[in-house]
Amino acid sequence: MANKVLLSMRAINKSYPMGDNYLQVLFDVNFEVRQKEFVSILGPSGSGKSTLMNIIGCLDTATSGSYVLNGRDIGSMRDRQLAKVRNSDIGFVFQQFQLLPRMTALDNVVLPLIYAKVPARERKARAMVLLNKVGLGDKVMNKPKQLSGGQQQRVAIARAMVTDPAIILADEPTGALDQKTGAQIMDLFEQLNREGKTIIMITHDPKIARRAQRIVHILDGRLYSAEEYNAIYDEDGIKWEDKSTIRTRKLRRQGNA
Ligand SMILES: Nc1ncnc2c1ncn2[C@@H]1O[C@H](COP(=O)(O)OP(=O)(O)O)[C@@H](O)[C@H]1O
Ligand SMILES: [Mg+2]
Repeated sequence: MANKVLLSMRAINKSYPMGDNYLQVLFDVNFEVRQKEFVSILGPSGSGKSTLMNIIGCLDTATSGSYVLNGRDIGSMRDRQLAKVRNSDIGFVFQQFQLLPRMTALDNVVLPLIYAKVPARERKARAMVLLNKVGLGDKVMNKPKQLSGGQQQRVAIARAMVTDPAIILADEPTGALDQKTGAQIMDLFEQLNREGKTIIMITHDPKIARRAQRIVHILDGRLYSAEEYNAIYDEDGIKWEDKSTIRTRKLRRQGNA
């Protein structure tokens, strides 16, 4: 049987006020993620990825449309409720890791457990389980500066996982890493997904996106399934339609058509 739907967006639009006017950034977005899926959202700079991520992560709300996350209607929520959902249901991973520089790896991972009001005596043990899982059991007393980029991202992933959120939401998680380290971080996401974690990853890099089970494309604020996208665009993001026009023009110039 198919896993239950964890996230469901219907007809989502998002506009930002711009002077006397509005700039619409997301158009009629429909998006569904089931439990235990690993989905990537792939799109170029300026396509609306961060805007969509902010809505998925309950950091911002849509202008219109409906959003149901883990059985809860997000659209009607106020800031305080949104913050609660964010803390309980979403684990964030960012491009620049966003660790607190003065704290050890261990304390960085413990922090969400303090917000979640987990009893003090349990926090350290739970954080240690996650730090061991990401392969940093021997670096828990290091501060971020004493860790490599890949290691810092592992701490950030442990922090995102420690409260056992319904979804891990990663925005360009390999964007600040070299290729090899990035691939290792993707190995880790794959492992966490195999163990049952639902992951949504946002990226502009097709190679990274392909590590997920499913790719959804975003372009000019519109979402496309891989099938829809491939019917319209080639692998370089050029419309098939435009390509044949370009080819016909070339042939005409050469006097062949
Ligand atoms: N707070 C904002 N106010 C006005 N315009 C914004 C705001 N955030 C993003 N935009 C605009 O929305 C579009 C999409 O931005 P963004 O979601 O950041 O794209 P991406 O993450 O794919 O690069 C861009 O044209 C950007 O300038
Ligand atoms: Mg962005």
